[in-house]
Amino acid sequence: PEFDLAVRGGTLVTATDTFPADLGIRDGRIAAIGARITDAARTLDASGLLVLPGGIDSHVHIAQASGPGIVMADDFASATRAAAAGGNTCVMPFALQPRGASLREATHAYRALAEGQCHIDVAIHLIVSDPTPAVLGQELPALIAEGYTSFKVFMTYDDLVLNDRQILDVFDLARREGARVMVHAEGYDAIRYMTEKLEKAGETRPFGHALSRPQVVEREAAHRAISHAELVDLPIVIVHVSGEQAMEQIAWGRERGLKIHAETCPQYLTLTADHMKGLGSDDPMEGAKYVCSPPPREAANQAAIWRGIQTGLFDVVSSDHCPFRYDDPAGKLNPKGRTSFRWVPNGIPGIETRLPILFSEGVSAGRISLNRFVELTATNHAKLYGLYPRKGSIGIGFDADLTLWDPNRRETIRQANLHHGADYTPWEGFSVTGWPVTTIARGAIVAENGRVVGPLGHGQVIDRAVSP
Ligand code: URP
Ligand code: ZN
Ligand code: ZN
Repeated sequence: PEFDLAVRGGTLVTATDTFPADLGIRDGRIAAIGARITDAARTLDASGLLVLPGGIDSHVHIAQASGPGIVMADDFASATRAAAAGGNTCVMPFALQPRGASLREATHAYRALAEGQCHIDVAIHLIVSDPTPAVLGQELPALIAEGYTSFKVFMTYDDLVLNDRQILDVFDLARREGARVMVHAEGYDAIRYMTEKLEKAGETRPFGHALSRPQVVEREAAHRAISHAELVDLPIVIVHVSGEQAMEQIAWGRERGLKIHAETCPQYLTLTADHMKGLGSDDPMEGAKYVCSPPPREAANQAAIWRGIQTGLFDVVSSDHCPFRYDDPAGKLNPKGRTSFRWVPNGIPGIETRLPILFSEGVSAGRISLNRFVELTATNHAKLYGLYPRKGSIGIGFDADLTLWDPNRRETIRQANLHHGADYTPWEGFSVTGWPVTTIARGAIVAENGRVVGPLGHGQVIDRAVSP
């Protein structure tokens, strides 16, 4: 046969077009798009389904060191299994440089954890926590040349925070090397001040986490990052934007002609700070299940984030999947966690639920078009991080990374049905319309009807060119 696989009778959706067509796949790539493709070793019937570019989640945390005694709930096998079941064909986790250690060694050790352990492709970002002269002068330029072309810097967290001079130096290096920088915009000193004040006042519940990081903390850091980016003349991505106030800073930067990109996440569209109060549970720590940074805001803020999605302020919607088990001393309830919100590990699982939530609340609810959905969940991720035109769309020569999507299927999100390593989902009982039926990664079926069928090791760790 001419093709290894034919996908027949579906409606293809890209960031710009929606049209009925068959697909012919050969050697893991899209080899033909046409009216009637029949000469294939295997045929999938996609009638009644949408054929979307596979989801790319450019912000996930997998097997990342998270402090003494705390263990992230997913390794590469479980994270990519959950991602595939949720309609994704590529995820981008972070290799973290522990302070005082070599970024190069940390990155190569992290990559070794991934090799042979992935159901879908993985592309690795870096986290720069210690920009020493050796890191800026030798290690980072060498890693960028090896294909690690993007990295994240943090403006908070004891073990990760960079001061303004360090941020400027990292930005400067990225400018010279053409690398992509992601910024975690929350101000360290303001959070420390608020945290100590709250603890003195006896406010140690998980809800204290939300009080310790109000929108102004995010807004101030976003403004500072944008100003530094202007000084260095560097495009940046402000990640996990949670609030209207940080959005205003991004709009301000763009009005000045700066290239400021922005990411948001489903939690800022569907969860609120009140979730950290535990929602009527008897368990005083229940709210820890929703502790992530930045924290979800008040309900009215969700409409502002939707407006940002509709108007183009946001380029991408990622999960910021950062899974910890709840009922586990190595997770949300680590022993110190019982005394203050300060010790609850930050992050929530969401790698498998990102696409259904955004589709349901976005497309099914009439807020965004199918094409905008594809742009926000696949195409723009590929373009921002150097995966385009290999991934991120449906076209001749692209990797055959596809999700067959049933736009009418109703499902209720249940932990019991998810594939991640966490023991809960923040969206337990959340109803959605629209569901991924089949995930095809580089031409192979990796997930079908909630079952992951592709072999571990099908996914590769892929290197990237610098983004144009
Ligand atoms: O709470 C979160 N988001 N934890 C993950 C780390 C990060 O800052 O993205
Ligand atoms: Zn972050
Ligand atoms: Zn993150």
